[in-house]
Amino acid sequence: MRMTSSQIDNYSTNGFVVLEGFVEPSECDVLRHRIEQMVQEFDPSGVVSIFTTREQKRVADDYFFSSSGKIHFFFEENAFNPDGSLKQSKEKSINKIGHALHDLDPVFNRFSRSEKLKQLADDLGMQNPLLLQSMYIFKQPNIGGEVVCHQDSTFLHTEPIEIVGLWFALEDATVENGCLWAIPGGHKYGLKSRWARNGSGGMELKTLDSEPWPEEELVPLEVKKGSLILLHGLLPHRSLENKSSKSRHAYTLHLISADAKYSEDNWLQRPASMPLSGF
Ligand code: FE2
Repeated sequence: MRMTSSQIDNYSTNGFVVLEGFVEPSECDVLRHRIEQMVQEFDPSGVVSIFTTREQKRVADDYFFSSSGKIHFFFEENAFNPDGSLKQSKEKSINKIGHALHDLDPVFNRFSRSEKLKQLADDLGMQNPLLLQSMYIFKQPNIGGEVVCHQDSTFLHTEPIEIVGLWFALEDATVENGCLWAIPGGHKYGLKSRWARNGSGGMELKTLDSEPWPEEELVPLEVKKGSLILLHGLLPHRSLENKSSKSRHAYTLHLISADAKYSEDNWLQRPASMPLSGF
């Protein structure tokens, strides 16, 4: 399945393009079932306490930083009672799983390194693509949190900026259950901020351009299960809270070019024993 020239044009004009039916519904279900298994096997007791005290907050940060080369589980912000216990089952409390699913889990590895995706990167003109990070996003019914308008290059930066986000809808995504929204052409505004390491072990948001996003230009990207949305690293996008009773599962993968310089102050630094690789 190669991209058509009008799809490639759309991507460069708008900063995103929707490829409907890119993934078979049965393939979506394979990923969903694999995640179900992983969640079942996951013991949240050690992680739940992380959110209760300052010292444990540091551990939480380590848990986040080390997820660059691991499969780690992150909870919804309002999943906890004041005593640190979960309000509802772990299955209903996880916000996302990341960030090395594509390297460490055989099912996600196979999906992420398919011939189809290799061709796609080629169609986008990526010479030496590397698979940088993967996330499984749940957008839980009723508690799935908002993701404010942002550019992925704020978090994952290369010079020059060569990063593509692949967003696979594993279920129908609608306005009701918190689909993506994007500003068509917004990737031409330039990078507004960078979330960079500050040298003392923490992170800092550095503003490069304080002009607010023209959020009135955001359009909803409602897509069917199996659709793939390609997002330019500079494209402003967001998703609203999921207040509906339906989940909105998605799998995302970010590709960078090996020819671009990967910024040393990005949060995501892979362990030396796990260098990035391509398809
Ligand atoms: Fe994003």
